[in-house]
Amino acid sequence: MAEDRVLLVGQGAREHAIAKALKKSEVDLFSFMKAKNPGIAKLSTKVKLAKLNDFEALGEFIKDVQPDFAVIGPENPLADGIVDFLLEKGVKSIGPTKSAARMESSKSFTRDLLTKYNIPGQPEYRIFAPDTVLIEISEYIAKVGKVAVKRDGLAGGKGVKLMGEHLQNVEEVLDFCQEVFAKGEAIVLEELLVGEEFSLQCFVSGEDISPSPIAQDHKRAYEGDTGPNTGGMGSYSAEDHLLPFISAEIVEEAKEIIQQTAKAIKQETGSDYIGILYGGFMLTANGLIILEYNARFGDPEAMNILPLLKTPLLDIFKAMIEKKLSKIKVEFAKKATVCKYLVPEGYPISPKKEEPIEVDVEKIIKEGADLFYSSVSEVEPGKIITTTSRAIAIIGIADKLAKAEEIAEKATSYVKGPLFHRKDVGTKELVQKRIDHLKELNVL
Ligand code: AMP
Ligand code: GLY
Repeated sequence: MAEDRVLLVGQGAREHAIAKALKKSEVDLFSFMKAKNPGIAKLSTKVKLAKLNDFEALGEFIKDVQPDFAVIGPENPLADGIVDFLLEKGVKSIGPTKSAARMESSKSFTRDLLTKYNIPGQPEYRIFAPDTVLIEISEYIAKVGKVAVKRDGLAGGKGVKLMGEHLQNVEEVLDFCQEVFAKGEAIVLEELLVGEEFSLQCFVSGEDISPSPIAQDHKRAYEGDTGPNTGGMGSYSAEDHLLPFISAEIVEEAKEIIQQTAKAIKQETGSDYIGILYGGFMLTANGLIILEYNARFGDPEAMNILPLLKTPLLDIFKAMIEKKLSKIKVEFAKKATVCKYLVPEGYPISPKKEEPIEVDVEKIIKEGADLFYSSVSEVEPGKIITTTSRAIAIIGIADKLAKAEEIAEKATSYVKGPLFHRKDVGTKELVQKRIDHLKELNVL
């Protein structure tokens, strides 16, 4: 039988992890990316470098390579309608249409959808259109207390500001809202929640969902959860596919919320959601709350789950497209994972860029770890330089979390260059802090 021809869009560590998982099957990979990710390039039959929203270049590439289906890694092309474009050309995708991708690209759309379909786990919230009179916002804050202030649209993980952290008082909230309104964008205000977060990533095909192990990301740049927010500095998952502070019952609740959401999307948009639904949840004193949806795998959380797949990713994707997801069993190894991101010094505020880095792949593999390239560019064979974002993800996998952390930490020493990482990701001390926090809140 001829090999499956898969078009992969995106150039980060998440896409490298997708590529690696797909290549465990007989696959011809065609990669459409903005910069040459050396890991993905090595696994690809053909590479096209172009901006991800350059649909003209994409159209030519698919004419040339004739893919059987496409996999869209990042959120921006989904929000730009890449799936609709590919469908017009007769290519089906793992990834939602522009309309369904609003689950990530519009926080107001998502909140209102969840309300309309009575889906549990909603916080107190209100949407403010760009023509809002500011007094309405002050009145709302006077009523609900401290709030999380969210830009409605995509902001690369930097669109949420919390009162008491990023915004000190109502005045600063109003200033930020005005700034956003001036761009014609709405604001969503939500009650400020306190608790512990986890991510649940599900394969979705219409009303069928298949969950993967939950993981916890670390958004803050520095150890001890301090410093500015980032795209995610690392993440971990445990061998029982739960977390020491998140029970099987809570994961069931989260699954149910995603299940009901998939059904609601179908009713609302009239078509099946085919792709990944990532639920960002927080367990609070008032129960489980859904903070956000992403319309794709998490980055770094994709690296926690894809290497554990026992079922071939190709088979899962094909079943999703053929609407037969419920017919296959999606299984993951019962192992713990720790992913640590090496990022340029100065990231995320003033990252050092175009700095050469040296990666001793052999030693990393010998340590029992693996690596996924992210925002780096291979400028000549073997010469890798940083760009402005997260550079390399190192992942440790083992029977227990402590061992996975040890492996990942050791392996970070085999990458040389002006980079830093959070040593505390996945450590016993950090996990204990999460447990203590929920105990303080009387949740555990
Ligand atoms: P989002 O993009 O909506 O997930 O928000 C990014 C991050 O902001 C989340 O991972 C949380 O850490 C935080 N966050 C979002 N919503 C709230 C909220 N209502 N209360 C407290 N923190 C929040
Ligand atoms: N890890 C958070 C994200 O992928 O958006």
